[in-house]
Amino acid sequence: MLNRRSLITTGAAVAAVTGPAAAQDAAPSGPQPGAATAASPEGVIAVEVTADKDGFVAYSVSRLGKPVITSSRLGLMLTDARKLERAFGILSQTVTSHDDTWEQPWGERRFIRNRYTELRLELQERWGLMRRMDVVFRLYDDGLGFRYEFPEQENLKTVNIGAELTEFTVADPGVAWWLPAFEYNRAEYLYNKTPISSVGVSQTPLTMRLEDGTHLSIHEAALVEYSGMNLRRVEGGKFRAMLTPGLTSAAVVREAPFHTPWRTIQIADQAGGLVESSLILNLNEPNKLGDVSWFTPMKYVGIWWDMHLETRSWNSGPKHGATTEYTMRHIDFAAEHGFGGVLVEGWNVGWDGEWFGTGWNYSFTQPYPDFDIERVAAYAREKGVEIVGHHETGGNGFFYEQQLDAAFAQMQRFGWHSVKTGYVADAGGARVGTGDGQSALAWHEGQHMARHHLKVVETAAKYQVAVNAHEPIKDTGLRRTYPNTISREGARGMEYAAWGQPANPPEHEPNLVFTRLLAGPMDYTPGIFGMETRVPEGVATTWAKQLALYVTIYSPIQMAADLLEHYEANPAPFQFIKDVAVDWHETRVLNGEVGDFVTIARKDRNSDEWFLGSITDENPRVLTAPLAFLDPGRRYRAEIYADGPGANYTTNRTAMDISTREVTSADVLTLRLAPGGGQAIRFVPLGRARR
Ligand code: NOJ
Ligand code: CA
Repeated sequence: MLNRRSLITTGAAVAAVTGPAAAQDAAPSGPQPGAATAASPEGVIAVEVTADKDGFVAYSVSRLGKPVITSSRLGLMLTDARKLERAFGILSQTVTSHDDTWEQPWGERRFIRNRYTELRLELQERWGLMRRMDVVFRLYDDGLGFRYEFPEQENLKTVNIGAELTEFTVADPGVAWWLPAFEYNRAEYLYNKTPISSVGVSQTPLTMRLEDGTHLSIHEAALVEYSGMNLRRVEGGKFRAMLTPGLTSAAVVREAPFHTPWRTIQIADQAGGLVESSLILNLNEPNKLGDVSWFTPMKYVGIWWDMHLETRSWNSGPKHGATTEYTMRHIDFAAEHGFGGVLVEGWNVGWDGEWFGTGWNYSFTQPYPDFDIERVAAYAREKGVEIVGHHETGGNGFFYEQQLDAAFAQMQRFGWHSVKTGYVADAGGARVGTGDGQSALAWHEGQHMARHHLKVVETAAKYQVAVNAHEPIKDTGLRRTYPNTISREGARGMEYAAWGQPANPPEHEPNLVFTRLLAGPMDYTPGIFGMETRVPEGVATTWAKQLALYVTIYSPIQMAADLLEHYEANPAPFQFIKDVAVDWHETRVLNGEVGDFVTIARKDRNSDEWFLGSITDENPRVLTAPLAFLDPGRRYRAEIYADGPGANYTTNRTAMDISTREVTSADVLTLRLAPGGGQAIRFVPLGRARR
């Protein structure tokens, strides 16, 4: 029964003990069937965990008394021993509470409150090997996380996890927005919108809206030395964790003691509540890097869209994009218009011949002969601009690791503080080291690639370099622990507007905000004004929507992704891209529905300005935006970039109305969004200078 000693806890502890285990004083020792409950600080979210007489452990979750997750089993399959599922009893249960506030070095908000109730259950098998497997729940008012913890023990040393048996049984029918898992193109699919009961195997975050309007999103936090979790629908609304395969029959190999990543369920009554939640970040460990002020959130331009339009090339030859001259042109432009960085893709040798899924030819220090790296570096420094490094690996993490130190040391010598990495290879075709000097092909989200990405981030930090990975492992909030993890791709980005078949439809961005973006920042690369591309759909948005993406899709580095001449030709809309902030004090979601529309207001971290972005799918909308977020009693000049008359994502993408008006926090704006349109607003306080 209950081990009373374990009730001694730290902090402001509350013991909530229920079930047969609690009912008796002179309890027999050893694990027993029983139950435990706990609730989040304001009592919004409650969990019940049971260990039944057959030894199955299950949990259920309710929100404001209403079931959200009904009885769902916990456990793991091992490849070399009996599974960890049947036979468990409760050894002890402890409830503690936690409340503190921490500061992000950069982010969508400066201060984050981390307030939760923790329920820790020590579980042990009641017969057989008597193995230990603890389960820890952290209950927030906007959701929960739970993980397995394996203490050091005699009968479980190397843990070869074949599969996770963790279930998520969604209580009610509803709608789901999801990406198929284990497909060749990794995360780069359009979102499926189906009944929950029609989901197949989904990546996470998996976002759902239940019949009563409750929104939830299942994902994970702190994916370290483990493989990524996908969700396989078993029947009805029941999902089971499906781990990304490893190199052997085990998806994960670990030595006890260790713990798994957190399995997270964000729960809100409105879609916007999911976006405002900091649950994923809170479940990560605090900053391990200390001062990272060498990285400053910034906007950047680059030699990039040219290649996606195929007017220039990554490889050497007459169309080579990364020439000294063209780079210097970008440096001049960046300096003139206040951009912090210039991304240069195709600067290094290795792009000639096959690179997709191979990467063996890449050098991350040796430039092509027509890219005078020393000269470029000197010129950039003189102009106060940084080159954003580019390390496309073709998915070959193994070969990249051999060059990491040299590559980052070179960047440090030039004073370049951010790198865009890339892992272009089909799913299952990433290359990892096997520890014996050899390499093997692996999934992008398996344990080996999780290890690789952490190694890149930790090595980069030593050289004061921040990392923006494309074709990455999914984001699980590790930027809290390693704040040089600045952004990543991990979904279809703007490049699909250049060549995608199909291109990104207008609902893509309102989908991203409530799915992929819940995981963390995305390097979406917005800001395209040249709407004709290599595909018939072109860029399927209005200009105003391109501007609004800077506010709605969060990233501490934002690209102005278009060709420079398109900005030079259109200074009026370009002004918003120059003005918009990239680092935020605060973020509010004013309205939104998954896949339909969203309006987000954010306050600049370095001034008193606010910015608002509103985007819609293919449908026109009239939305209201109460300006209650502004400082009361203060007047602001609203600089409004709205869809113009007749604006439409197919026929008239450039129609735009730019106007200014004076507003206060008492005003309510009416936002008229065209089909595939948007609106972007800058609020400048009047009567006080910008800091
Ligand atoms: C895919 C990335 O998403 C894109 O931004 C980059 O230009 C290419 N890979 C080449 O590295
Ligand atoms: Ca829609």
